[in-house]
Amino acid sequence: MKVAVLFDTLHPDWEDADYKKEVEAKVEEAEYDVARALMAKGHDVLMIGMGEELGPPLERLAQFQPKLVFNGCESFRGHARHEYALAGVLEMHGYRYTGSSPTALLVARNKSLTKKILAYHGIRVPAFAECHLGEKPMRPSELRFPLIVKPLLEDASVGIAQASVVENDEDLSERVKFIHEKFRQAAIVEELIEGRELYVGLVGNATVQLLPIIEMTFGEADNAEHRIATYKAKWDEEYRKRKKIKNVFAKGLSDELTAKIGDICTTAFHALWLQDYGRVDLRLTHDDEVYVLEINPNPFVAFEHEMANAAEKAGMAYDAFIQRIVDEALERDHG
Ligand SMILES: Nc1ncnc2c1ncn2[C@@H]1O[C@H](COP(=O)(O)OP(=O)(O)O)[C@@H](O)[C@H]1O
Ligand SMILES: [Mg+2]
Repeated sequence: MKVAVLFDTLHPDWEDADYKKEVEAKVEEAEYDVARALMAKGHDVLMIGMGEELGPPLERLAQFQPKLVFNGCESFRGHARHEYALAGVLEMHGYRYTGSSPTALLVARNKSLTKKILAYHGIRVPAFAECHLGEKPMRPSELRFPLIVKPLLEDASVGIAQASVVENDEDLSERVKFIHEKFRQAAIVEELIEGRELYVGLVGNATVQLLPIIEMTFGEADNAEHRIATYKAKWDEEYRKRKKIKNVFAKGLSDELTAKIGDICTTAFHALWLQDYGRVDLRLTHDDEVYVLEINPNPFVAFEHEMANAAEKAGMAYDAFIQRIVDEALERDHG
């Protein structure tokens, strides 16, 4: 089957053959892993880089006429907030693509809209307030410290550090100002939920398969630091080693609790209109309350990273996992 892998890249001028050289050389890049898996499954794969202009990738797509586009686009011109629009462009041109629709990508990226929708569905979310550009933070009196301040529209823990957690109004104002200035977008201020940090991968549509639950663990108790997934805690290998931060399969969750988490994640998946695959980030408190932090319609699917590892534990080797996403995309209804 003809499958185009569309992704944002630092080399948009490259041709398919240039990318495939990198794929063969096992250069680290999630979409190279995806392409390798699709080729291993016998598909006719064309790799198309998305750069600063829409014209060239659209021309390549028009020439190739893929049956499906594996949509690996995460941002446009350096802005993750344009992610939804790229799915929109595919849709407008009549291409079938993997992953969520513009609606889901837009709503899930907005950490405030997401929480409002989840709350409507009876899912627990941290109490929160928005603080728009040009506004001074006015903390609603019902919001209790400690609070965490995040950019409204980023992901991958961009803009999240230990300093994101604030204990008083002065530090709150300062961190909101930092988010406004550095990211040119609104901030969201949430109550900090203490607890275990869990990630749940899901694959499917009308019926959703839950992958084994992953936990980020934070090594020995270090009371000076908040046990949160900062940017460094996610991506800085040296820091992770030093702080003994690991992503492991969650242990010791009873069947009942696992089922409760599964129900919540499935409800969240549908509530946010996700398609094909996704990941729910949540916190589990000491008394087993489940708080959903956010929903990721476009989670990281690189080989040997957590979602792929979880899929493997569920019996899907990497190639089968990628093929499963393709199958889900082909089998669902397209509007
Ligand atoms: N309300 C909160 N309570 C506790 N920890 C939080 C809260 N919000 C965010 N965090 C921590 O910050 C991390 C990143 O926040 P998240 O909302 O998932 O943003 P991103 O889209 O960048 O992943 C979470 O995985 C969690 O460790
Ligand atoms: Mg997250």
